[in-house]
Parts: sequence; structure tokens; C-alpha cells
Amino acid sequence: MKSKKTIKNLIKPIFNPNGKFNGKELEYVMEYLNTENSKTNNKTWSEKLEKAFCKKFNMKYAIGHNSGTSTLHSCLYAADVGAGDEVIMPTYTVICLAFAALHQNAVPVFVDSDLDNFNMDPDLIEEKITKKTKAIIVVHMHGVPAKMNEIMKIAKKYKLIVIEDCAQSLLSKYKGRLTGTIGHMSSFSFETKKQITSGQGGIVLTSNKIFAERIRKHAGLGYKILKAEAGVGSLLPRQFQNPDFKRHDSLGYNYRIPEICAALALAQFERSKKLTDRRNIIASMYLDALRACDWIVPQKSPTNCYNSHWSFAVKYYGKEKYNFSWRKFYDLFNKNGGDSFFGAVSLQHLEDVMLKKPFLGKYIPKNNIYKNKFNYGIGTCPVAESIQPLIMVFKCGYRDMRIARKSLNALKKTINQIEKQCKKNNDH
Ligand SMILES: Cc1ncc(COP(=O)(O)O)c(C=O)c1O
Repeated sequence: MKSKKTIKNLIKPIFNPNGKFNGKELEYVMEYLNTENSKTNNKTWSEKLEKAFCKKFNMKYAIGHNSGTSTLHSCLYAADVGAGDEVIMPTYTVICLAFAALHQNAVPVFVDSDLDNFNMDPDLIEEKITKKTKAIIVVHMHGVPAKMNEIMKIAKKYKLIVIEDCAQSLLSKYKGRLTGTIGHMSSFSFETKKQITSGQGGIVLTSNKIFAERIRKHAGLGYKILKAEAGVGSLLPRQFQNPDFKRHDSLGYNYRIPEICAALALAQFERSKKLTDRRNIIASMYLDALRACDWIVPQKSPTNCYNSHWSFAVKYYGKEKYNFSWRKFYDLFNKNGGDSFFGAVSLQHLEDVMLKKPFLGKYIPKNNIYKNKFNYGIGTCPVAESIQPLIMVFKCGYRDMRIARKSLNALKKTINQIEKQCKKNNDH
């Protein structure tokens, strides 16, 4: 086995100081590759990652996963969401929320967006609650916290379990509290473009021991020795290797985070403040560029919040004001040297899969009880439908500030050009 010092010397020549993984990532991965049983200091990398998350978030339990989708599935399983139950969720987010519910044979119930905050509008939640409602998944889109006080009040009133999806909001704060510490469980993603990444991966946080144990078992093939705490229990080989030993006492998948990803994620997490601070600097540059522009309106945060800026999202009103379409703006921005931005993801309730419903009769019974629950379609979430086509999602994860500045200049230039052109047209 190589010593830590040797590992550091070995990786020096291949270490890219401007790379994405320029903290201790290579060192930890090399350490992982150089140990036989994946443990250093008697701990696996996933145990170390889980411990670091618990400490930072002041939560009792953390359970590493292989994605921010499997995390959501485990949370719903832990919340005992089952056949015919209903799960309330925003329509404006990625489709994996609906999928997680459907894989539990439950019904995703979509809630419209707040016009300015883009997240689920708490005023529209109560009307969606029925006797079948078990849980609410809240998403902090783009890093902007959802209105948690209002949502938790409703959840308390109806005894619903709240799962925070923090895939885009690592280290964001809602009125002084880290997102992911307010609901009953929370889910994080380490997919490539997130604030921290291990290629793929995720983690769940909770302070509820029963939820934690259910989550760990769900993510670990239902091994009966698994507990809420990290580690696989302490069976002696003579017990575990015994052919009579019954291993599994509950349903589960293999959703475990690979050890090599846990090593990467830990190194990223150790410098997550630095990484999110840089995203914030970039976001403030966008804000600055838009200060005098009333036709590109940034997503609004509730008061007293901190946004770790997975991205910088705005509503584009250039079509109304200058008859200059979203697509024309996109093309001109790119022509001016901008690093192309994204449109909003398609709303969950308008995705092909939700309109065609291939899951009916397979996951959800195809009968009259459920027929009306799947009446999605245009007009069912009018605010989200009106803002989704306007949204522009600018990137904040630049490591090379020269690219960020170039893109910012392109943004300013594009705005100026459009305003000048229209002024000229009006003068004629
Ligand atoms: C809000 C949100 N939830 C969940 C996920 C799923 O995470 P993963 O890609 O790690 O499965 C993502 C990732 O894009 C996301 O943005």
C-alpha cells in the first residue's frame, strides 16, 4: 500500500490546477484505489461523506445514493407512500419526481408555480390535498428557496411528510436555515452540473431514525443488518458466510453510492463553500448586467434567503416589449460571444410520458377511480405554462472567469443592441 505522501507525489504531474476537481479529489481517489477494502482510518468513503454531511447540516442521519433520483424514490418509500397514495409536487421541475411517485404506484399531483419565485405556489397546495395525500416534495429550483414556512404550516395541519429536493440548492438558506434541514427528509444530487459533483451520486438527510433505516435498507437491497447509522452492522464472517443466514427482510434496490464517487463527492463537499461563493459572484455579475433592464426579470427569492445559484434564471419579456423573440435573443447572444443559456425544462404535467400515460394499468390501475387524477394537460397549471416559455437559465458554474466575463459582455451587448434597434425603429 502506498503512503499518503507517495500518492500526493504521484498525482502532482497529472494535477490540473484549473480543473473541475482541483481540491483533494485526486488524492482521495488514489487513496481509494490504493486500499484493498475501501476503508481508510477504518471508515469507508461513503461513511466519511455521510458524516461530513451530518456535521455540516446538523442532521442525525445521511444516506449516500447513486443519484438524486434514487434518493427521491427512497424518501417516498420511507414515507410509506404506496399504491394509490398521492404525492404533491411542483410541475416546474425535472420529471424524476413524478417517476419516483409512479414507481411507488402512487399518483403525482402537480401544483402550479409562483409567478415570481417559479417554485411551487403554497397558496395552491391545500386545494390539492385529499384523504390519499401522503407527502409533499418541495423543490428549490435554480437554488432559490421555496416558501418553506407556508409549506410546513400546511404539512403540519394535514400531517403530511415533506421531502425537500435540494438537487439545485446545496448550501442555499431559507431565512437563515440551510435548505434540506426544514422538511422531514431532504435529497441532494451530485450529477455533473450540480454545485458539487462526483459524476453521478446523491445523498438523503433526515433526523428521523425510522425514515433513515428505511432509506438505508431501500438503497441497500433490504439487507436486514442495515441500520439508520452508517456501516453495515457487525456480523462475524461465520454468521454472514453461513448458508442458513437469511439476509433480506425488506424490499430494496441497489442505490448505493459507489465508493469512488463518495471519495470524489467528499473532496468536493469539503470546498463547497468556495464553489458556491464563486457561483454567487457570477450571479451578481448577471444581476448587475440586468439592473437597468426591465424586460428581463430575475427569479425572485423569498426575503432573508441565500441562493447558492445552481443557475441564474430570468423571465424574458423581450417579445412583448420589442417584438424580439426568445429564440432571436438566444441566437444574437450566441453570435455576440455568449456561452449559450438553457430554456426551462418542460413542465412535468406536459411531458409526453404524462400525457400518454404508459404507466396506467402497469403501475397505477386503469380504472375510474384513477381516471380523473390523471387529467393533466394544457391549462391545468396556467402560471407555470405562461412563464416556462419565457425562462432563460444562465450558467453559474464557470471555473474560468474569462468565459463568464465574455458571456456577461455578450449579454450587455445583446440588450443594448435590441434597445437601440427598437429606439431607432420608434424614431422613424
Ligand atoms: C431538481 C432536481 N431534482 C432531481 C434531480 C435528479 O438528480 P440526478 O440527476 O442526480 O438523478 C435533478 C437533476 O437534474 C434536479 O435538478
